[in-house]
Amino acid sequence: MKILGIESSCDETAASVCEDGKIILSSVISTQIEEHRKFGGVVPEIASRRHCENILGVVQKALYDANCTSDDIDAIAVTYAPGLIGALLVGVSFAKALAMAWKKPLVPVHHLAGHIASNYISHSDLKPPYLCLVASGGHSHIVEVCDYTKFNVIGRTRDDAAGECFDKAARVMGFPYPGGVWVDKAAQQGDADRYPLPNPKVSTSEYDFSFSGLKTAVVNIVHNAAQKGTEINKNDLCASLQSTIASILTQRTMLAARNLNYERIAVAGGVSANSGIRASFEKVCRLENKQLFLPELKYCGDNAAMIACQGYYEYISGKRADLSLNAYATMPLEDN
Ligand code: KG4
Ligand code: ZN
Repeated sequence: MKILGIESSCDETAASVCEDGKIILSSVISTQIEEHRKFGGVVPEIASRRHCENILGVVQKALYDANCTSDDIDAIAVTYAPGLIGALLVGVSFAKALAMAWKKPLVPVHHLAGHIASNYISHSDLKPPYLCLVASGGHSHIVEVCDYTKFNVIGRTRDDAAGECFDKAARVMGFPYPGGVWVDKAAQQGDADRYPLPNPKVSTSEYDFSFSGLKTAVVNIVHNAAQKGTEINKNDLCASLQSTIASILTQRTMLAARNLNYERIAVAGGVSANSGIRASFEKVCRLENKQLFLPELKYCGDNAAMIACQGYYEYISGKRADLSLNAYATMPLEDN
């Protein structure tokens, strides 16, 4: 069974054809990062306009690369929530038009369910139930993946997401948007013990996160140095920040895994590309004898292969949308 997946929730227009939920026949991503970079973040209106311009070509290329025509496609899966509403609406409207014109079923996919599915692409041995940390620009969730389409979020961030913390800290240090990858590069040359940073606990829930205090601590270090006319060592500050975020994410996720008896742990979302976070999970899972699943780097950030893959599982579970399908800027993973 071949699913065409479409993703447009933020600043990547993407389309992919996936066979049977695991074989990626094509994955096309048109990124707008360069254009948003000069504004230091994604400008929603620009994102929507670029999606409109790009989506036809991206979908055509995905079909071409997969050596498919519309006749080969069994269903169309599309990200319908959460994300920038104007951006999501482009993908949803396009998918609805294709579903109508081609007379194919339409399958709505939650963006975070898509990130979780990115691990099925590279790991055919990964099957629910397992525990997954989803860390992206907008979310930091610890999720019980009870089944392919059934999720229970047991931990979340109370303020900023991990990716947001990376990006805001990177911005104050003068790195381009999105800063996570730059922090990762600089951290490889730095001393993680140089700048002690807070590891804030959320008193009401042992699995919840709070990253805004950490972000503020980095901002204060940079501003204090500027006021005193001293130089910060960016590599050391990046290494300290990365190791603190890695340790917060790893500690909370592993605590949940121990308490709830999960032997298999997965990490997904844009932040799962971070080398320090990957190494931290690898180390702890090896020590605790747990099986770890990490997505291939090309499937960590936003892409449509993960949407097509999750679309397959949603399709076989019977999920369908009609042409009244709407997009939603926010939607809990459990409600989708
Ligand atoms: O999943 P994603 O591509 O988009 C959202 O759904 O938000 O995640 C984007 C986030 C950004 O905050 C970006 O800086 C971060 O993932 N990111 C990284 C790395 N690569 C991407 N953060 C840390 N280290 C990286 N190597
Ligand atoms: Zn994402």
